[in-house]
Amino acid sequence: MRYGVLGTGEVGRALAGRLMELGHEVTLGSRTADNPVAREWATAAAGRARAGTFAQAAEAGEVVVNAVSGRVALDALRAAGAAHLDGKVLVDVCNPLAFEEGVPRLDPVESDSMGERIQRAFPGARVVKTLNTVSFKVMVDPGRVPGEHHMFVCGEDAVAKERVTAMLGELGWPTGRVLDLGGIAVARATEMYLPLRVRLSRVFGHEDFNIEVRLAG
Ligand SMILES: NC(=O)c1ccc[n+]([C@@H]2O[C@H](COP(=O)([O-])OP(=O)(O)OC[C@H]3O[C@@H](n4cnc5c(N)ncnc54)[C@H](OP(=O)(O)O)[C@@H]3O)[C@@H](O)[C@H]2O)c1
Repeated sequence: MRYGVLGTGEVGRALAGRLMELGHEVTLGSRTADNPVAREWATAAAGRARAGTFAQAAEAGEVVVNAVSGRVALDALRAAGAAHLDGKVLVDVCNPLAFEEGVPRLDPVESDSMGERIQRAFPGARVVKTLNTVSFKVMVDPGRVPGEHHMFVCGEDAVAKERVTAMLGELGWPTGRVLDLGGIAVARATEMYLPLRVRLSRVFGHEDFNIEVRLAG
């Protein structure tokens, strides 16, 4: 599979790196073609992956991953180009989080979400929200957290969700632990978990934890 990963932060690099290790063709996208972080990453990949602009990464990918801050995701995706997203599965891992005097704030929140904004702005893309509820290390190595903990997906396109569930399986999330929560409006709920996740990470002093949903009976 060819993946275009938009974002050179710890999330983009972790996902791009793991997908590359799994044998996929990966292009890591940035605002500029000469981003030193992306170039260094591609050099370390020794020809098995490439770095480029957001547009080049989106064009190269059969599946595109949005791994930039939610606060700038629409700008990054506009730079990627609607034509390069049309008809493609767009895996949205972003959170619209910013810290104001150390306090996590979300924008949008409650009555809207970045998952929905992205789907509205790019109606031709098949947006699936996932992975935004765990740290970048747990995303690509769920075994860091013991137990039968869960990953969530939501989006409008059932086939796109199946494809993302398969991708999650490759990353180490068994299908039985991937919960389909419904349409893209559910992104509000998973994005609104973020302030609690930030608080938990401060209490524990690390980010190796996740939600495990247990049913009675
Ligand atoms: N960190 C985690 O463990 C974690 C867990 C779950 C979800 N997330 C979410 O994953 C996303 C990525 O997080 P991150 O910490 O890896 O990276 P980040 O620092 O949020 O984003 C880095 C990327 O944003 C791009 N960017 C910055 N300003 C921009 C602008 N004005 N316009 C367009 N693009 C811009 C950068 O472009 P350049 O490459 O050109 O510099 C870079 O590629 C975020 O939404 C975050 O909330 C993070």
